[in-house]
Amino acid sequence: MENPLKIGIAGLGTVGAELARIIHSKSNVLAERCGRAITITAVCARDRSKDRGVDLSTASWFDDPVSLATSDIDVYVELMGGEDGPALESVRAALKAGKHVVTANKALLARHGVELAELAEDAGVLLNYEAAVAGGIPIIKVMRESLSGNDVTRVFGIMNGTCNYILTRMEDEGLSFEACLADAQRLGYAEADPAFDIEGDDTAHKLAILTSLSFGTQIAAHEIYIEGITKITPEDITAAKDLGYRIKLLGVAQLTDSGVESRVHPTMVPLNSPIAQISGVTNAVAIEADVVGQLMMSGPGAGGGATASAVLGDIADIAKSRPGHQHGPAFGRPASRLAPYKRAKMRKHQGGYFIRMSVYDRTGAMAAIATRMSEQDISLESIVQRRDKPRSQVANKDMDAQTLILITHETHEEAIRKALEAISQDGYMAAEPQMIRIEELG
Ligand code: NAP
Ligand code: HSE
Repeated sequence: MENPLKIGIAGLGTVGAELARIIHSKSNVLAERCGRAITITAVCARDRSKDRGVDLSTASWFDDPVSLATSDIDVYVELMGGEDGPALESVRAALKAGKHVVTANKALLARHGVELAELAEDAGVLLNYEAAVAGGIPIIKVMRESLSGNDVTRVFGIMNGTCNYILTRMEDEGLSFEACLADAQRLGYAEADPAFDIEGDDTAHKLAILTSLSFGTQIAAHEIYIEGITKITPEDITAAKDLGYRIKLLGVAQLTDSGVESRVHPTMVPLNSPIAQISGVTNAVAIEADVVGQLMMSGPGAGGGATASAVLGDIADIAKSRPGHQHGPAFGRPASRLAPYKRAKMRKHQGGYFIRMSVYDRTGAMAAIATRMSEQDISLESIVQRRDKPRSQVANKDMDAQTLILITHETHEEAIRKALEAISQDGYMAAEPQMIRIEELG
């Protein structure tokens, strides 16, 4: 057997500690499969005294990730997180020192991926990041290697386990948003700052990576339209279900005539569609491409085990590779061949819309709403009117508001925004309207 593959792990939290435990418990089988042992020779975290639930006494301890990254290791495994700071500095240092890098850090790649890919190519080493997108689902390998002969037209999916977990439990158990988020944090699904999950940034980071792999463009996370799930109410979830839909936080990137439309937002998907069945922490990524047609992969999207599984797959690939027989560039083509990202304007987005409005029950309100919609050439598929309490119980009839839910046929985002603005100006709305896009799933 060849010399062991020496790995250094920076970050011993949910993912790093689980990775170390699996490498220890599966050392024999890994050596057998890779043709060489995988040895943890160095580790780094902030708190040296913390019990990690695994014996790391044979590994050298480093307080500084950059020193670990340039020490006597073959692979630097970055599991600290953060788009800049120690994660960026240490990964840069490792690549410049000719070490292979494995990371689960989508924020880092979404911001600095092209630069890091160039460093890896220059040094002739691998930059592997399977765990950065959709946890345990091997989507990067599929897009980077298996679909090389395809032209992708759309990629979309549920890419944040925390958000899907929250939406599922709110619907199934009627729990509050806050209670579900607290459980997701306790289970190790959420980011160190959970705002990244619930505000949609984490999905955008992952979508930025998939967009680059799909369309051969430079990574442009800052160009993605983002709406999180914080404004989704139990009323929206119930209304969606009554109308035959379920709300999911989707990331969608598709080719349009004017460029790439990349967006992250709560989305209505038909209740009977495969993606509507994806519940809890599970993620799913669907790809539409010219040769293969449609494919969808689903699996656990967050948590120590699922993520460590993907990280370990990346390490094993490096252990199995031999000089001259390594896998290709990080984003599926040489970094210098990635085209500039051309953004399609969100106001040109075409699709159906779910609109929930709280409207004063006054003479002329419905007629005005219908007029404003038709002025923008918006055709309505359905209208549902609901009232919370009988009108007889409302003291001030002029301020009596009722809920109006509209489902539109396909239209433009600009038309919807103009119509809602006009309805608001007419003075019939008692609160900000809710607008959720409906995704055509083909
Ligand atoms: P975590 O539980 O918060 O662990 C972070 C680890 O990094 C901790 O061990 C921490 O040390 C260490 N660390 C932080 N800053 C450091 C510094 N400046 N120097 C040295 N060590 C430092 O995070 P995690 O959930 O394992 O996530 C790690 C990475 O994986 C992130 O990029 C995350 O986005 C990504 N990821 C996570 C999941 C998931 O489900 N959790 C899934 C996919 C990808 P101490 O323990 O001493 O504080
Ligand atoms: N916080 C992320 C999620 C971890 O909930 O999906 C996996 O990337």
